[in-house]
Amino acid sequence: MAVTNEQIRAQIVATIGEADSVLDVGCGNCELVRFLAQQVAKDAVGIDINGHKVYEQISGASDGNPRTVRCLKMDAQKMDLWEDGHFDAVVSTHALHEIADPNAALSEIRRVLKDGGTLLVADFTAGETRWNEDYFTPGQVRRMLNEAGFHSVQVEKVPGEHFMFALATK
Ligand SMILES: C[S@@+](CC[C@H](N)C(=O)[O-])C[C@H]1O[C@@H](n2cnc3c(N)ncnc32)[C@H](O)[C@@H]1O
Repeated sequence: MAVTNEQIRAQIVATIGEADSVLDVGCGNCELVRFLAQQVAKDAVGIDINGHKVYEQISGASDGNPRTVRCLKMDAQKMDLWEDGHFDAVVSTHALHEIADPNAALSEIRRVLKDGGTLLVADFTAGETRWNEDYFTPGQVRRMLNEAGFHSVQVEKVPGEHFMFALATK
């Protein structure tokens, strides 16, 4: 068994609900950003250090109004395009462990989040062997989030899985 994209999406909807703007850090092929635009946010943006530019308008599921999907090539450690407090929420799936300096990225994520905004990180935990990569423990992620200045930090390992959801507030 593995934690599926559907479970991750359900967790995002449950924790973020509806927002004006959401950022997906390490967005890969922009698929989750399309989902975010449809189900969560009027303005959904993804960034990825290896990404390519995507700009689309799609209809939101709840009201049918046009929503913006944007993906950009950008380093999470330096998101100069946005002023402090730009986004209502930030998500990041399967990506934190790949970022060269995750502490710098978390600090930059906190900067672009508005006060009271939510960060949801979903990632594998140490012990996952499928791709032979190094993953963090839930305790390490909890420490990193606290050190980056987030509050209300909750990191939960999914029972029976090498996977965690981390939730934090600016
Ligand atoms: C395993 S992929 C996950 C992609 C997608 N989020 C998903 O869940 O399928 C990790 C992604 O993190 C990106 N990444 C690594 N370092 C990054 C950085 N410093 N800034 C932004 N993205 C980064 C990689 O390019 C890669 O696309």
